Amino acid sequence: MSETPYRPFAHVPLAVFRQMRQQDPVHFDPRMHGWAVFRYDDAQYVLSHPQLFSSEAILPGQPHLPSFLGMDDPRHRKLRNIVSQVFTPRMIEQLTPQITAVVHQLLDQVAPQGHMDVIRDFAYPLPITIIAGLLGVPAEDQDTFRSWSDSLTAANGTNDTPEARATNAQSFQDYFLQKLSERRRQPQQDLMSRLINAEVDGEKLSDEELLEFCRLLLIAGYETTANLLGNAFVCFDQYPEVAEKLRQHPEFMPGAVEEILRCFPSVAGDTRVALEDTTLGGKQIQKHQVVSVVATSANYDESQFPDPERFDIHRDPNRHLTFGYGVHFCLGAPLARLEARIGLTIALRRLQNIQRDPGQPIEPVQSPFIIGVRNFPITFTATAHE
Ligand code: HEM
Repeated sequence: MSETPYRPFAHVPLAVFRQMRQQDPVHFDPRMHGWAVFRYDDAQYVLSHPQLFSSEAILPGQPHLPSFLGMDDPRHRKLRNIVSQVFTPRMIEQLTPQITAVVHQLLDQVAPQGHMDVIRDFAYPLPITIIAGLLGVPAEDQDTFRSWSDSLTAANGTNDTPEARATNAQSFQDYFLQKLSERRRQPQQDLMSRLINAEVDGEKLSDEELLEFCRLLLIAGYETTANLLGNAFVCFDQYPEVAEKLRQHPEFMPGAVEEILRCFPSVAGDTRVALEDTTLGGKQIQKHQVVSVVATSANYDESQFPDPERFDIHRDPNRHLTFGYGVHFCLGAPLARLEARIGLTIALRRLQNIQRDPGQPIEPVQSPFIIGVRNFPITFTATAHE
């Protein structure tokens, strides 16, 4: 059978972005009543001046999140500081055995059949199982937890009615309030117990704030990581020589993950609102106007990334903006990186001769905020699990 020509991210308008960086890098878009920022330097400027460009109440297409992702300092700094005491790179590093075990379990399930849908069988289950573990959800509750999470984040193609979503949100809330009160009575060695006790300047998180953080972990950490994993398989399909090189040299995996994040950012940008009249790239921005940083364009800015359209796992430095920049820089970046490094290294080792199933059309994720695919069927030869 002849292979159908296939460009999974053809809808990402790299040529348009290139033109915008040259001709109109800070562009007023009347459809969104705001500005789109295409160049790296301008993007970095917006994200590093939160006193001019606010994060509060402006997650487009999403209900307002009272979590600190949608807050400005000083409240943001205080909550982030409390959580950062617990959610440390060291704590994340200690998840290595759990992540490794989950990756093997997922691959054990598909290995005998010699085919899988990367998105359904690997990319979504891995991050949600790790988040469930972090939140102390026991094995018997994990399927329920996952169905609430899919509903809450509208992830995985879930298309619940608003009523079903409200019911699931309520169940999620009741479940975690119950867990919180159990942990208050009987602290354990887990993230939630440590969050309950963490404090800055004598202030601890309230139940409502703790619940918000549980929700934030889901909303910020689930679909984003799932799409990173899915996009990695798309890259391996597009650049089979890269997959082969990584099989021979797993030590190059961290660089490969960064390049996948740069070229196919699962989070396509960040949004702010101007707090006062200001100028950016010679344009007059008015107070209350929306300013959207287009990370996908900034990540291809030729002034920062030489030969930006070349996929190069050895690119160094590789200061992409996919995890944001500045005070809101992704708190979960070490976790996303660790899951991707471990998951992809083991997958490449255990699955040989990976071939995309050419008979099944690949559907891109239909969202301006996420770059990814909704399905990615592959066949492979499984090696024995040592
Ligand atoms: C913030 C991207 C995975 C937790 C952010 C921001 C970006 C981002 C761009 C900043 C948004 C802004 O400035 O408005 C990503 C990507 C991920 C990923 C691309 C995966 C590839 C995770 C994971 C977690 C997480 C796994 C935790 C389980 C957070 C939190 C914030 C955040 C808590 C808020 C930080 C703050 O407001 O101070 N993420 N994220 N993220 N992310 Fe991630």
